[in-house]
Amino acid sequence: MEILRVENLCKVYGQGENTVRALDGVSFSVEKGEFLAIIGPSGSGKSTLLHILGGVDTPTSGKVMMNGQDVYRQSDNNLAIFRRRHVGLIYQFYNLIPVLNVRENITLPLLMDGRKVNENKLDEMLKVLKLKGREKHLPNQLSGGQQQRVSIGRALINEPSVILADEPTGNLDSKNSREIVELLKYYNREYNQTLIVITHDEDIALQADRIISIEDGKITRDEVIRR
Ligand SMILES: Nc1ncnc2c1ncn2[C@@H]1O[C@H](COP(=O)(O)OP(=O)(O)O)[C@@H](O)[C@H]1O
Ligand SMILES: [Mg+2]
Repeated sequence: MEILRVENLCKVYGQGENTVRALDGVSFSVEKGEFLAIIGPSGSGKSTLLHILGGVDTPTSGKVMMNGQDVYRQSDNNLAIFRRRHVGLIYQFYNLIPVLNVRENITLPLLMDGRKVNENKLDEMLKVLKLKGREKHLPNQLSGGQQQRVSIGRALINEPSVILADEPTGNLDSKNSREIVELLKYYNREYNQTLIVITHDEDIALQADRIISIEDGKITRDEVIRR
């Protein structure tokens, strides 16, 4: 089943002489449960693409369909709701809210959506993420690996259609990187959770089902690694 489709996506930043064509006619489709890696040199448009997939940046032209819905043909208010329910974003530098503790950071998307916390589910998640006993800690009381595990919890608590991760291990040592990748793969496998990861790390890319390469805002390769 197709969960995401991108059609002829273009993104132009700036005007006149300062124009940057960050995305230049990008099209692809992703199946539910797929693990897709996106690779490419710095400045090639990877983060721009992920932000547009996640509904946090608007395309100059082109279309994003997620779960049968045209993401950018809805009001800003509906787009914000759509983003909270359908997209889980993970960043290189975690982006946790410093004054909220672990539990509060993870459950924030639920509360913003007016939903109640399912305590059993949260407890199970804290176990999987190895954060049991750390519920009351603030982000600055956690290691980088722990902070990234909190951001995985926050991204997954709403059971999004797609997890989007922008160099999620870029700030971590190799042991913590492996743990983060194992966790993302666990959710991908166990819950058939669609996973799109931007990475510079060839070892991570080779664990994906498919690798898309981007250069100068265009897809230069789209390879299936495994089915
Ligand atoms: N907000 C912005 N304003 C102007 N140019 C931008 C902006 N964001 C990204 N760019 C430019 O778009 C291109 C692609 O950037 P980006 O998507 O961040 O690449 P990557 O993630 O592959 O390193 C780069 O040339 C970058 O300088
Ligand atoms: Mg980037």
